[in-house]
Amino acid sequence: MDVDLKKVSTIVDKYQGAGGALIAILQDIQDEFNYLPPDALKSVAEKLKIPLINVYSMATFYKSFSLKPRGKYLVTICLGTACHVRGAKNILGEVKKRLNVKRGETTEDKMFTLETVNCLGACALGPIMVVDGEYHGQMATRKVDAVLEKYKSKGEN
Ligand code: FES
Repeated sequence: MDVDLKKVSTIVDKYQGAGGALIAILQDIQDEFNYLPPDALKSVAEKLKIPLINVYSMATFYKSFSLKPRGKYLVTICLGTACHVRGAKNILGEVKKRLNVKRGETTEDKMFTLETVNCLGACALGPIMVVDGEYHGQMATRKVDAVLEKYKSKGEN
């Protein structure tokens, strides 16, 4: 994927001179591209005149950053104990089937990335599926399709 380095440049310039700007810059780049493309990281290092290794250590330290292309929507299935006993594995199975991806993978159309987590701290709502930061509680396999479709049509517009 070609990265529009002009966009990277604009982001870096926005934080010119601000202390501790690297994390904010990386956050904005991830918002723009849905992940941190290698060319963008190289350009950040050059513009900030810091070693590329420093940029990479920041990018790999925080779990919220992704060095792999991600879909427009992040789908997170909670597999913590409370969600697990209420059938979270079946929800995960259904999502995998519908999206045709495994954990950590992104759909071919770059619409969804599937991840799992060990407890979202909202156990009473379990089983939980989070899409694009929105919680869908008391999930059931029969509801999966409708939830995914909602984001799919939103993403296509
Ligand atoms: S186990 Fe799923 S929210 Fe706690």
